[in-house]
Amino acid sequence: MTPTTFRIKSFGCQMNVYDGERMAELLSEHGMAPASDGAEPDLVVLNTCHIREKAAEKAYSDVGRLRREDGSTPLVALAGCVAQAEGAEAHRRSGLIDIVVGPQAYHRLPEMVTAAAAGARPVDTAMPAISKFDALPARRRSGPAAFLTVQEGCDKFCTYCVVPYTRGAETSRPAADIVAEAHALVDGGAREITLLGQNVNAWADGALGLAGLVRALAKIDGLERIRFTTSHPADMDDELIAAFAEVPKLMPYLHLPVQSGSDSILKAMNRSHSVDSYLRTIDRARAARPDIAISGDFIVGFPGETEADFEATLSIVDAVRYAAAYSFKYSPRPGTPAATMESQIPASVMDHRLQRLQARLAEHSLAFNCACIGRDTSILVERSGRRPGQMIGKSPWLQSTFVETTAPIGTMLDVHVTEALPNSLGATALRQAEAA
Ligand code: 5AD
Ligand code: SF4
Repeated sequence: MTPTTFRIKSFGCQMNVYDGERMAELLSEHGMAPASDGAEPDLVVLNTCHIREKAAEKAYSDVGRLRREDGSTPLVALAGCVAQAEGAEAHRRSGLIDIVVGPQAYHRLPEMVTAAAAGARPVDTAMPAISKFDALPARRRSGPAAFLTVQEGCDKFCTYCVVPYTRGAETSRPAADIVAEAHALVDGGAREITLLGQNVNAWADGALGLAGLVRALAKIDGLERIRFTTSHPADMDDELIAAFAEVPKLMPYLHLPVQSGSDSILKAMNRSHSVDSYLRTIDRARAARPDIAISGDFIVGFPGETEADFEATLSIVDAVRYAAAYSFKYSPRPGTPAATMESQIPASVMDHRLQRLQARLAEHSLAFNCACIGRDTSILVERSGRRPGQMIGKSPWLQSTFVETTAPIGTMLDVHVTEALPNSLGATALRQAEAA
């Protein structure tokens, strides 16, 4: 039976969120509809993440839980990076999986669904030269804050990371396609766009780099804010840094993963930057935009990490004073060079280091939030809060900000920051910056 309703569950990074939205648009274009809350969908797409921990095991147990009370199952599509890594093996490991589709092949999902409904078990993990983006329908509706993938894949080959294997080589979408998609998102309601890429600052279209793209997008009327993520420290060129000073729509927030504060660990990670070159990049960003919020990613317990290496990571945290951060225990990924390195670090050591790192990071993010108290700024209202009359929006520095207001979702609202919490701000509304 051909399915008529679907549900997509996305795990992991923002690019998976974006891919999930595009798959939903594609299935809708082909006559299917999202299942309503509480209803059993005919098709479930698990859009999986493979970056850390027991990703594949988690995906298989999620698949197992899709069995309904009466023992029947929906049509199941395994998508995302676990699908890419497992390929046809997924069919062998679970009889419940009907479709296996990788991140570069999901434009073929509708035909794969038709084939699966007729009893086939299609697999597509190809990384075709033709861009899936050309085969996807145009964007129509959008929330106030939208994602837009501009670059995919990675050629850096950090020794711990699966991304070069699951998302493939670095590829950039053409500028014209990105600008067209941004216009469509703004027409559909977006006021903020976050440009996504595994190495977003390696984006290029001929001589045009990410800075040029940001400047082109800033010309779109109705688009109020631009962000981009994730940047690689080795690709932070002067032009991009200058854009923080010169393009008012580019928000003062830079996610720049460092992973470790020890040069010998950075070398073993094949990071292609040093502690010193990283800190100089941060100085350049702060010179261009003194209020810029810096966020980072960290890995503790990389093979061979000594106590001194770890303390160097604590030192770089103090030197940078991160506004926000994501920190992880090293997780050996099958097929990556680090997985077979000697001197893997015991779990108990990693646990202890992660606790210490997170405590230090929390001090800095609270300090950053406290320093915002008393400022007048603006937020983009994105959703209602738990309390009646309360709305939540993001500050320019990406803090979730709570405010009492009748301003609807999508409003740019001027606010006065009155309160700081570990992961959010409280504010009072000043006046509506503009009608939504
Ligand atoms: N183990 C732990 N963390 C990892 N990351 C990537 N690969 C691994 C791994 N094998 C983290 C890095 C990266 C973020 C997206 O995930 O910090 O920046
Ligand atoms: Fe992975 Fe390194 Fe590429 Fe980031 S830069 S996606 S951590 S290989």
